[in-house]
Amino acid sequence: MLVAPSILSADFGKLQKEIEAICDAGCDLVHIDVMDGHFVPNLTIGPVVVGAAAKAATKPLDIHLMVENNTFFTELFAPLKPKYLSFHIEEEKHPHRLIQKIKSYGISPAIVLNPHTSPKSIEYILEDIDMALLMSVNPGFGGQSFIPSTLKKIEILRKMIDGAGLKTLIEVDGGVTDKNIHLLKNAGADIVVAGNYIFSSPSYKKAIDSLRA
Ligand code: DX5
Ligand code: ZN
Repeated sequence: MLVAPSILSADFGKLQKEIEAICDAGCDLVHIDVMDGHFVPNLTIGPVVVGAAAKAATKPLDIHLMVENNTFFTELFAPLKPKYLSFHIEEEKHPHRLIQKIKSYGISPAIVLNPHTSPKSIEYILEDIDMALLMSVNPGFGGQSFIPSTLKKIEILRKMIDGAGLKTLIEVDGGVTDKNIHLLKNAGADIVVAGNYIFSSPSYKKAIDSLRA
């Protein structure tokens, strides 16, 4: 299981130190939540702060766009060269076109599904993306409770991916803790995002290790 701490729960007063700490603690990716105040009822950070985060990080960035204008934000964040750039399927009229655009920057494209969105909605573009991100909370805030119906969706998506012989990774985001990690693993998740659980822990390393085990 790969672990991607979400810096949404970090102390932004010492962001550089926080990012260095999670990287030193052995995380696999640094998850960055970009919110525009329109697609979700919260507003976070732009390319200036994400650029500073990219400088501090010794692990690849995993940028999660929660925005209305995906193409605009893709162009804004592409120069920061994240490993993954993910956009919400609910907010994109031309996902296939956007996937090609993300790939043209040498970035791995990923698609995010809100809790109500069926895995079927990405059936015909699954082969074009490197990762599918299943939201296990409503996007917008850290520290919310895990929505149990996500488990069924992970299982369905796992079958779709394996059945088609694809290598698309499944990432799960929201309410992940050491209490539900075994359920996520059994259902077929490859990567977990965790914000509150890791950053409220006295030892980032112990928290990350507990999710990997
Ligand atoms: C929610 C974000 C998540 C969030 C996860 O919109 O996409 O990445 O930070 O936070 P926790 O792990 O606290 O639920
Ligand atoms: Zn996220």
